[in-house]
Amino acid sequence: MTSRMAADQQVLGYLGRALSLELSAVQLYTAQARLAESWSLSEAAERLRGEAHEEMTHAERIIGRMLALGVAPGASQLRPVGLGTNLSEMLRYDQAFEMELVGLYEDAARHCGRAGLSEDRLLFQALLEEEQAHARELAGWIGQLESGVNQRRDPGAAF
Ligand SMILES: [Fe+2]
Ligand SMILES: [Fe+2]
Repeated sequence: MTSRMAADQQVLGYLGRALSLELSAVQLYTAQARLAESWSLSEAAERLRGEAHEEMTHAERIIGRMLALGVAPGASQLRPVGLGTNLSEMLRYDQAFEMELVGLYEDAARHCGRAGLSEDRLLFQALLEEEQAHARELAGWIGQLESGVNQRRDPGAAF
């Protein structure tokens, strides 16, 4: 009984950290989408807006799990956004951010696997795979930008 309760406390810790990071990701991609728009990079802006939406669905799933466990969601602190002076810089920041989520979900899934909490493990494992896919997509996007001949500094960059 006590070990089960201790495990649950750890799961709540993982869920709380995950919610803060996912909501930070929503803020991050939304801000970057607006900035890309102001650089007239509408395709990139659209893609970043799509990311923000996807991160919001992750936050919703975490909130749903917290409610199912009987706790009120309370993300503590949002991470300040990383902007940069061009698209590649922003995407590099995003890649590091996604890797942080990957690390968190790896730990959380491993912990739940050991503790026999299969429902939580499945949630963390699914989120892990989605963040790994994000990181791969970003790597591909960065590779494309940096191998392109038309990579240039955006003249109107404000950050
Ligand atoms: Fe996410
Ligand atoms: Fe992500």
